[in-house]
Amino acid sequence: MIIAIDGPAASGKGTIARRLAAHYGLPHLDTGLLYRATARSLMERGERLENVDAAISAARGLALTDFDETQLRGAEMGEAASIMGAMPQVRAVLLDLQRQFAARQEGAILDGRDIGSIICPNAEVKIFVTAQSETRAQRRALELKSRGEKVDFAAVLADIQKRDERDSSRSSAPLIMASDAIRLDTTGLDVEKSVAAAIAIVENKTQKS
Ligand code: DC
Repeated sequence: MIIAIDGPAASGKGTIARRLAAHYGLPHLDTGLLYRATARSLMERGERLENVDAAISAARGLALTDFDETQLRGAEMGEAASIMGAMPQVRAVLLDLQRQFAARQEGAILDGRDIGSIICPNAEVKIFVTAQSETRAQRRALELKSRGEKVDFAAVLADIQKRDERDSSRSSAPLIMASDAIRLDTTGLDVEKSVAAAIAIVENKTQKS
């Protein structure tokens, strides 16, 4: 079974994907890490984020085992990853890596922005996780605080809105809900309720097919 989970920043998609992976015993790929790791590799080489050729080469150098999440999770890396995500050539390089992961015999769960629409259009279950931007900014602020980062709520909200805008308006694989995805709005839902709702969607979908 392939489960595709998409949604905007801090919607809860990563947490839901991890919990579903544990529940169903499936391997999980957080595809945002690919874009974050590409950006980090570029920065380590001292290249500008806008350098498309260098970004392509950084993306080509990635392996799925490369990720040190502690270095990739911050707000700055999220913004840098969003710039990578707007480059069609980088998306093309990362497409194969994601499809290889999804092709595992036991199935897989992938979360990102274009999993249901582009990477795994034939996924058995597609969930589009969303929440109001203020709620998402509150979650992101809490997460950053717990990482020891200084938090200015207005700046976090502005960052989320800027990323939403870039991720949704880019020409290549923009953040959109696939026509056969089920929307899960986590505004007002805690983690347990969000996960329970996601499991209910999977059960409902798989029982029908
Ligand atoms: O899910 P995240 O916040 O870690 O993603 C960081 C950025 O990476 C996001 O703003 C856009 C980009 N991204 C993408 O373009 N496509 C994906 N499948 C995943 C992430």
